[in-house]
Amino acid sequence: MINMKNPYSYIEAEILDVIEESPTIKTFRLKPKADIGFRAGQFMDVTIPGVGEAPFTPSSNHDVKEYLDFTIMKAGRVTNLLHGMKKGEVVGLRGPYGKGYPLDIFKGKDIFIVGGGVGLAPLRALLYALFNEVDDYNKIILKYGSRSPKDIIYKSEIDTWRDRGKNVSLEVSCDTGDDTWKGNVGLVTTILKDLDINMANAVSIVCGPPIMMKFVTFKILDLGFKDTQVYLSMEKNMSCGIGKCGHCRIGPYYACKDGPVFTYDKIKDLPNIWD
Ligand SMILES: Cc1cc2nc3c(=O)[nH]c(=O)nc-3n(C[C@H](O)[C@H](O)[C@H](O)COP(=O)(O)OP(=O)(O)OC[C@H]3O[C@@H](n4cnc5c(N)ncnc54)[C@H](O)[C@@H]3O)c2cc1C
Ligand code: FES
Repeated sequence: MINMKNPYSYIEAEILDVIEESPTIKTFRLKPKADIGFRAGQFMDVTIPGVGEAPFTPSSNHDVKEYLDFTIMKAGRVTNLLHGMKKGEVVGLRGPYGKGYPLDIFKGKDIFIVGGGVGLAPLRALLYALFNEVDDYNKIILKYGSRSPKDIIYKSEIDTWRDRGKNVSLEVSCDTGDDTWKGNVGLVTTILKDLDINMANAVSIVCGPPIMMKFVTFKILDLGFKDTQVYLSMEKNMSCGIGKCGHCRIGPYYACKDGPVFTYDKIKDLPNIWD
């Protein structure tokens, strides 16, 4: 909920739990002191009071009101400090901002989701939203790429996602394997094949590092998806989050307000979209 009098004010949230996902990624389970609703794909600014803030997409089920999960990779100043925070400490939340994934458009279709690294965080929120009404979708296919087996996030639950519906399937690939890894070894693009998808009635949703999004987008266009069927999460550098500062500009759009999810046709001709 955005406070119209002071859009930069935040709601305090207690850290209920910290889950270590990988050597560089942790999931923070937060209990806000007031209700904050969100739609899968929207983002919020997480504030360390007196220190700074950074944008993150909730990774939990938007139907769960008791807590919000944020899955956060160590990248710099704010995220390093967040990684040092413990259960019982308090952060601030402002938002949600941006537009969520258009679930109404997705209904009745084959949903082809491709994630890379911590990009699985917003996609987990999307998957939970799809699982809430799993029979409303024709197929839900997830392909996830991780650098190595130890970098896979949501290890304790990822295999259970297959059981969420007969129409759900998933495959994980690691860039490099180890003795424990029995799955595919190679970039995520190497598992984007042998797809049983009705391209005429499908959408693809991609989230991950910019270089991964670029090559996955080119690959899925080769597979037969049209520009209008490809939904990309454009995590541009952001500051205000509310369409005022211009930091997140992509051509005529503000990623914070008009995105962060865009169909490829809207942005493909704009400069530097993969930077
Ligand atoms: C809409 C949105 C949703 C996001 N969701 C998540 C999420 O769910 N989980 C997660 O781990 N991260 C997410 N991010 C990225 C996250 O916001 C950045 O990692 C964070 O701002 C880094 O802050 P910092 O102070 O720790 O690093 P800084 O000290 O600010 O920067 C460290 C390095 O990261 C780069 N950087 C900073 N911000 C971004 C950015 N937005 N994209 C790419 N590089 C950046 C800087 O250029 C610098 O090289 C999201 C970003 C956006 C815009
Ligand atoms: S972050 Fe300020 S305009 Fe988008």
